[in-house]
Amino acid sequence: MGRLVLSQLSRSFKDVTAVDNISLVVEDGDFLVLLGPSGCGKTTLLRMIAGLLEPTSGTLELDGLDITDLPSRHRDLAMVFQSYALYPHLSVAKNLAFPLTVRRTNRHDVSRRVAEVADMVDIAHLLERKPRELSGGQRQRVAVARALVREPKAFLMDEPLSNLDAKLRTATRQELAALHRRLGATFVYVTHDQVEAMTMATKIALLNGGRLEQVGTPDELYDRPASVFAAGFMGSPATNLLDARLSSSNGAITVMAPGVEAVLWEGETPEREIVLGIRPEHLSLHAPGSVAAAPTSGAALRGVVELCENLGREQLVHCRVGAHRIGVTCPREQRWEEGAVVVLGASTEHLHLFDRATGRRLEWRAEPPLTQHAAPNEPALSV
Ligand SMILES: Nc1ncnc2c1ncn2[C@@H]1O[C@H](COP(=O)(O)OP(=O)(O)O)[C@@H](O)[C@H]1O
Ligand SMILES: [Mg+2]
Repeated sequence: MGRLVLSQLSRSFKDVTAVDNISLVVEDGDFLVLLGPSGCGKTTLLRMIAGLLEPTSGTLELDGLDITDLPSRHRDLAMVFQSYALYPHLSVAKNLAFPLTVRRTNRHDVSRRVAEVADMVDIAHLLERKPRELSGGQRQRVAVARALVREPKAFLMDEPLSNLDAKLRTATRQELAALHRRLGATFVYVTHDQVEAMTMATKIALLNGGRLEQVGTPDELYDRPASVFAAGFMGSPATNLLDARLSSSNGAITVMAPGVEAVLWEGETPEREIVLGIRPEHLSLHAPGSVAAAPTSGAALRGVVELCENLGREQLVHCRVGAHRIGVTCPREQRWEEGAVVVLGASTEHLHLFDRATGRRLEWRAEPPLTQHAAPNEPALSV
């Protein structure tokens, strides 16, 4: 078992609040990814879970037991550091054996377990080497193997792939995901890389400035970003975000901005300032006149092509729309001249609406007309 409950955890360093009131449940067997930009508090949060750093306030539970004040070595959690933290003077075999020998496991069991995990991560041929005689990828495997020897309740990993080159990172990412499935153990994994998060996580906790921005499955974060920040952080090329105004006319709810016109649904709404989000892959490019200038539903953006970038598999066409530069991904066979006047279309289901003042997602419901997604650890906001 390995179920972690974080309740209102905070940590400050002098005047910096690195982790700000985070409550989160990591279910047994979850691969939870703590995701966010550099400096958002991921490492601080993971170190508190590991017991390497005391929270300023809040509590931590592991399988129903309050471990807030329990020393790290009694927590039954294994940590893999970004730097791997191997003992340079010990062989790989001794590095792997170390967590067991300090627990006075008998020598026969130690060698059996070392051989087992070495097989599991494919380093059996490296057991007699010293860390300096290994490549970066091999050291990374040794660090993971050392975490595995003890069969802890959860594995904690802080950017374990960041020192590997791109190709090795992709391969290791798949191996870690497979390892997680095979062990069925709880993983808490820190990264700033949204692709790692999307591909490995069963659940993502997105952090921003020490606070939880959104918690959900990779699909939920991608398909229904709960805030402007989440929409902007997840996805590459990045989500287009435009300032716009929500209002109703002729019984329909509309979104307007310079060069932008969108008809959403039937209904009434008070006017409000919003941010409209549209992913580049959800826009399509048309010559003017080939589509209705005023859409009956969905969005039509009028713009001018500024730049076409060849991304290999497809192209990214940058268009000037009002004061914004909007990216559209489309097949490379489509030829768009720079300076051409174009219409960018998107269907209603692909429009993301956010309140301009709070940055939170607006969701259409029958009653009340619009509800605002609360941040994970904030009280619900009513509109
Ligand atoms: N030991 C420390 N002393 C002072 N400030 C710290 C310390 N550790 C982290 N911080 C600050 O806390 C914030 C979060 O840091 P960190 O948890 O390392 O972020 P991340 O891992 O997401 O990059 C940063 O502003 C960082 O400068
Ligand atoms: Mg960090």
